[in-house]
Order: sequence, then C-alpha cells, then structure tokens
Amino acid sequence: MRYFIKTFGCQMNFNDSERLRGILKTMGYEPAQSWEEADLILINTCTIREKPDQKVYSHLGEFKKIKERNPKALIGVCGCLAQRMGEELVQKAPVIDLLFSSFNMHQLPELIQQAQAGYKAIAILDNPPSDEDKLWEFPTVRDNKYCAYVTVMKGCDKNCTYCVVPKTRGRQRSRSLESILKEVKSLVEDGVREIHLLGQNVTAWGQDIGTPFEELLYRVAEVPGVERIRFTTGHPKDLTESIAKAMGEIPQVCEHLHLPVQAGSNRILKLMDRGYTKEEYLEKVHMLKEYVKGITFSTDIIVGFPTETEEDFEETLDVLRKVRFEQVFSFKYSPRPDTPAYSMEGQVPDHIKTERMSRLLELQKRILSEIAREYEGTIQEVLIEGCEGSKLTGRTRTNRWASLSGDESLLGSLVKVKVVSSKPFNMECELVEG
Ligand code: 5AD
Ligand code: SF4
Repeated sequence: MRYFIKTFGCQMNFNDSERLRGILKTMGYEPAQSWEEADLILINTCTIREKPDQKVYSHLGEFKKIKERNPKALIGVCGCLAQRMGEELVQKAPVIDLLFSSFNMHQLPELIQQAQAGYKAIAILDNPPSDEDKLWEFPTVRDNKYCAYVTVMKGCDKNCTYCVVPKTRGRQRSRSLESILKEVKSLVEDGVREIHLLGQNVTAWGQDIGTPFEELLYRVAEVPGVERIRFTTGHPKDLTESIAKAMGEIPQVCEHLHLPVQAGSNRILKLMDRGYTKEEYLEKVHMLKEYVKGITFSTDIIVGFPTETEEDFEETLDVLRKVRFEQVFSFKYSPRPDTPAYSMEGQVPDHIKTERMSRLLELQKRILSEIAREYEGTIQEVLIEGCEGSKLTGRTRTNRWASLSGDESLLGSLVKVKVVSSKPFNMECELVEG
C-alpha cells in the first residue's frame, strides 16, 4: 500500500504531515512518488487566508479524476480547512473518503479502516480529545536528516482579531517536557544536529503547565548531540527578558528569531489586539540584540488591515527600516469568516493592498541587498544539509542559505566558511576549516 501527502500551510502543518507519514509507516504503508500511484491520498490543509483555501478546492477537482481512474484510492482531507469547514467540505466534494480534525490525527489507523470498509470516515472534533497525546507515540518520517522540527505545543490563547488559528487549533496545550526530551533524544540518535521547536505561539510554552519556556531551551541544550536550536513562532508579548538571556547564554541557540510584528501603527496593532505597541516591539528587538550578539530577525506583516491608512502603512515601513529584517513574509489582509476583523468597517480595497504590498517588497529588497553585502568576507558557521554533485548547501546560524564546493562526506557537519559573494537569498562560500 502506498500513500501520497500534499501539505499546505505552516511548519506546524508540515510537521503534522511528518507525523502522519510516521503513522502510515507503522501501518506498513510506503510513500508513492505521485498521487496517481497512491492507494491513499491525504491533503493536509491550511485556511489562514483565502488563497490556501482555494488551492485545496482546486486539488479536490483533480482528485475526482483520479478517483475515476483509480476507484480504490482513498482520499482524505485533514488540517485547518478540514477543521473549519467540517462536513460541509464533504458535501462540496463527495470524493472525500476521510475527513479528520487537527485534534485527532492519532486516530488515522481507525479512520482508514472505516473508509476501507466503505464508510465515510468523518471525525471532526470541537475540542481536543483526552488521548490527544497518543500522537507523540508515533515516529515522524522526515526528508531532512540533520534538521528536525519538534512540535512542543499546540493551539493558541491569543485573540488576534484577523486570525482563524485559535478556532482551527484550539486553546494552548503544552506538550510535556519529558515527551519533548524523549523525542529530541531519539532524533539525535538518528543523526539530527539541529532541533527546531515549533508551536503556534512557542514562547508561551509551559504557561499552562507551570514551566517557563527558557527552561525548555536549557533542557533541550543539555541533550548530548544537540548542536543547534531554533524555535518558531514567538509572540513578541511572551518573549521575556529571561528568554532573551537564555538565548544569549545557550551556545546552541542560533542567532536568529522570527518575531512577527504584523503592523507598525499603534492604532492598527490595537485593532489587531496584538497586545504591544510599535515602541514596545522595537524595545524587545533592542533587548534581544543586547543579550544575543549578532542576532538577526525575520517577521510577518499584514498589509491592508481594515481601516489602514497611508500614515498607518508608513509606520509599518518605518519598522522595516529600523529593524532591518533579513526576511519579511508579507500578506495582504484576507478576511476570515468568524473572526472579529471580518466584520470590521473600513475594509481596504484590493488595489490599495496590492500597491502597498509592492512598496513594502521594494523597500525590503533594498534592505536585503544591503544586508547581503555586509556578509561578504565574514566567517560563518554552516550546517551542511544538502549535497548535489560537488555542491554543498546549508544554513548559517543567522538562517541564511550558503553554498560551497565539497563532497558528501561533509553532510551533517558544522563547518566554518568564508563568504565570497553574497546575494539576497544565497551566499557563495569557501571552506576555512573542517
Ligand atoms: N490575513 C492575512 N494574513 C494573515 N495571517 C494570519 N491571518 C491572516 C489574515 N487573515 C498572517 C500573519 C501570521 C502569518 C502566519 O499569516 O502574518 O503571522
Ligand atoms: Fe495554516 Fe494556521 Fe493552520 Fe498553520 S495553523 S496550517 S498557518 S491555518
């Protein structure tokens, strides 16, 4: 039996798919190269904006044709769109055999059995079940041998007015320290060098079990063989001084942080219910720079939130100029049903969002090409993750892609390189020591 999984959305969804692959592996399934050859096709969906929703719908159209050619193939949909739409999705696309929540991925074996018996296996839960943690008992199947994601918490307790996530992923639940460390140990035994802790709001990890997030950082760093630690996504409000201090103290924590600002105008930040002002955000960045020498930042920006004026947007550009992010993920505001911002007055017309977005991208392009040039001639540490022919690729501690000549014996090694030439999205480097 062979499976094919198509994943949309964020790193959390990506890691969920790695877990689904692990479940399928324990059931004896093998991966298929394409969905045409699969006996089970799963689409792990995202619904953060309207665009990913549409992408899923277009795939469902294709699956109808696959089902005609291969009537035995089972088609399953899970993830955030499945959670939000529930059975309505099956009514829209009767080709779906299995539909399940982001809360009950661990029930995949039973759901497959039901579908194989000819029933529609629909299991959309309103809340996480009490045995949700069973999921951690399954392994993950990963493509990257040296860098691994580890989901440490699920859900989100924040109420950002544009965001659908608290509805699709539920309230904040921290995974136990013991369970996380067990997985980290087994990953390291498997050859992993870099651990990337994941959570919708990862810096809030532990709040519901009485342990601060920095404790998790210290404990993961104690696992022998962990060479690098990253974590995503941190909410600026939960990024405390003790976390910054731990980041500076723990040698394995990389000098890079994804810290979504979303907007620069205090009026818009308030309407978004982000819980900080532009000045407070900039202070956090300043504090992090004090504790973590050489830290770089990436961020998420929403352009055209309801009522955003030209002056508000200028404040966002000002944050970009002040922080000089190495990466900016920018999105046009997309109204999501059942979120407070959906029904706010003053929705911004699409052509204005497009125009502001292109200005933002233009500014960021300029900043990034300046930053890229500053890397030239510097010495960086790179973890070699890929090898094609005689070309090696990997990331610096500051999360920039680097390539250099070498052979596959260096795969999985941390090497020191000198940056010879640096472009916005890649740096050509040469080895300075093994
Ligand atoms: N419209 C546009 N972007 C959104 N994001 C979340 N919700 C929306 C929305 N309704 C963006 C935020 C978040 C990222 C993952 O997606 O910037 O940080
Ligand atoms: Fe998409 Fe958000 Fe779900 Fe991730 S958590 S898959 S970004 S809706």
